[in-house]
Amino acid sequence: MIDRPPTLCHTFALRSGVCGSGVLWSAGRERTAMTTIIVAEPSRKLFNGYQEYLQRLLQELAPRRVGDIGGGRNPQLDADFVRRHKLDYAVLDISAEELARAPDDYRKICVDVGAPDFHLREEFDFVFSRMLAEHVKDGRQFHRNVFAMLKPGGVAFHFFPTLFAAPYLANRLMPEFLSDRTLNLFAPRDRNQQGKFPAYYSWTYGPTRGQLRRLESVGFEVLLYIGGFGHYYYARIPGLKQVSRRMTDLLLKHPNYLVTSYAYLVVRKPPLAEGVSEVSSVIRIPTP
Ligand SMILES: C[S@@+](CC[C@H](N)C(=O)[O-])C[C@H]1O[C@@H](n2cnc3c(N)ncnc32)[C@H](O)[C@@H]1O
Repeated sequence: MIDRPPTLCHTFALRSGVCGSGVLWSAGRERTAMTTIIVAEPSRKLFNGYQEYLQRLLQELAPRRVGDIGGGRNPQLDADFVRRHKLDYAVLDISAEELARAPDDYRKICVDVGAPDFHLREEFDFVFSRMLAEHVKDGRQFHRNVFAMLKPGGVAFHFFPTLFAAPYLANRLMPEFLSDRTLNLFAPRDRNQQGKFPAYYSWTYGPTRGQLRRLESVGFEVLLYIGGFGHYYYARIPGLKQVSRRMTDLLLKHPNYLVTSYAYLVVRKPPLAEGVSEVSSVIRIPTP
């Protein structure tokens, strides 16, 4: 049960529930030593700060084997960074065509992360995805598979659009050809760099109670959940820019996590018991 209002916190030690600066939003009476940090931020900040946040996470967790799920033609870590940090980095994608468009010096794995017969087991210390979760048909199966591919104590970070933001609700309800045209109207994209993939929005919500319960039912510890408010589409609709700005300001002060537009989610597969595990059970998770 969630019993505290959300607020900002910079670092957090899982075991002690210590928070660097601020109050924690504790998620679960039975989980005395576990807390979930819930934060409200402008969506803009999640977009602009993504690379920096990803790199801070990598610095803090110092993983060796890293997977970029749905990295496709745009792997998020450049080859130089991978070499300098001595990462064993793999780009995973369902589409061989997408993977073929990524530079050749990446290790590539063609796999459907939503498949019921998923075969990767305890391969990675850290996996992340950017704009992937909404494209997987079955959210439960997706998170189960991510759980399976992580080593005990491994961490997953996902950045994804969320329901019930109006543009995604519309995208969810529209036939594919119509949503493609609408997307182009509001956010014309470089088709060479960005494809358009069917979106299902299964388990892509902000930090609601239901969503925390869903992720915990897979076995994850939910470490950090940031709800992003506001959407750049609104600024392109005449008359809506000011209204949406005020609405976003209001939601940042009084968050309603049912209407987030984006989310950062950091979850962990529980480590093995002390002494058995390679990884420490104490973990420090930065917030943007
Ligand atoms: C919107 S693109 C995002 C690409 C990249 N992460 C980025 O942010 O630019 C979504 C990617 O997820 C891949 N994808 C979609 N469903 C997938 C699945 N079930 N398993 C693995 N990859 C999938 C697509 O092929 C595509 O490369």
